[in-house]
Amino acid sequence: MAGAELIGKEEIKEVMDVLGTGVFARYGFDKERGNFWKVRDFERAFAKYEGVEYALGVTSGSAALKVALIALDIGPGDEVICPAFTFMATYEAVLEVGAIPVMADIDETLNLDPDDIPNKITPRTKAVIPVHMCGAPARIDKIVKVAKKHKLLVLEDTAQALGASFKGKRLGTFGNMGSFSFDHYKTITTGEGGMLITSDADLYHRAEWYHDHGHDHLSTVSRALDGRTILGFNYRMNELQGALGLAQLKKLDKVLAAQRKNKAIVKDFLKVVPGIGFRSAPDPEGDSATFLAFNLPEEKLTRVFQAALKEEGLDTTLYKDNFWHYVPNWEHFLAKSTANSKKQPFSDPRNKKTTYSRKQIPHAEDLLGRTLFMGISVKMPTAKMKAICKAIENAAKKL
Ligand SMILES: Cc1ncc(COP(=O)(O)O)c(C=O)c1O
Repeated sequence: MAGAELIGKEEIKEVMDVLGTGVFARYGFDKERGNFWKVRDFERAFAKYEGVEYALGVTSGSAALKVALIALDIGPGDEVICPAFTFMATYEAVLEVGAIPVMADIDETLNLDPDDIPNKITPRTKAVIPVHMCGAPARIDKIVKVAKKHKLLVLEDTAQALGASFKGKRLGTFGNMGSFSFDHYKTITTGEGGMLITSDADLYHRAEWYHDHGHDHLSTVSRALDGRTILGFNYRMNELQGALGLAQLKKLDKVLAAQRKNKAIVKDFLKVVPGIGFRSAPDPEGDSATFLAFNLPEEKLTRVFQAALKEEGLDTTLYKDNFWHYVPNWEHFLAKSTANSKKQPFSDPRNKKTTYSRKQIPHAEDLLGRTLFMGISVKMPTAKMKAICKAIENAAKKL
């Protein structure tokens, strides 16, 4: 649960600043806002933390993906390679801009397999979205290398991996753009909210214009006099979200340290389980430690262990069964059940050959069928930790 566990007086103070002025809009009202610019300050602090030139606050992690895809000029007729293991929003964002998501396999990191990217490339492939699932990095160096070779754009979906890094560089900064989520479950939270980052001025401006109806935000007199070049929509973050984000960002390093400490304790204890293995980490130092993923040699045994852990009161997730994070289980997506009856972009004849079958992702079928995920909290007091270890010990006896 992370940031939501630490809501306290710091968040209250930041939010009270905004409530004191009554100005919730991030733009305008210069006289009334008492010099509080919470979203702007959050963006600046976030960009500094990530070590990039630009950050743009938006309404959600889903919006961040969509706005980034628009900035990258991805649209109808384009194909975007995405991993089979991700939250639906990654695929939905691609569909939202009229492009078609192409499903690729994962590797032992449980993230997008760089070696599968070339198999999925067609003349219409425009971009790839590596997703750093459950706090841990993909082999992002290799992914960027393959993308460069094939002239593909890279948008890193870092919704689940704020604070994580690969060889000292923050995730989200390897590709052309990176996106983040601050929904209630994420490493830091603004209730709902998201951020996209880039060091490319053109991409930033396109994103900034699109997320606010095309406003160029250049007028020094009035928002009503802003210029515009492209059409857009409204994905603006508000000042209450910015206020929460400012307070939460200051706690991020504390969140990461606590999660890493707690994860190390449980991971160490799990070694009592015969045959136990762990998710492959291309850079263990870079893990944000929101989850612990462990595996057994085969699916049947893994299911027995999961049931035994449940009996002991310990819940884990087997993502092969999960409804929201594994493409073969999205029956409405597979049925092309778009919200309107036109079924675009699936019905576009150019996308006829795009299919989503379990046979295309043998590693995901294997790895996600014998890996269990356990959430790691910031607050795991000794009594809770002892209960977890006892549950593991008892469940291991049933293997
Ligand atoms: C990988 C991934 N991408 C995108 C999102 C969407 O973020 P939000 O809930 O802020 O829209 C999520 C949310 O869970 C996610 O896990």
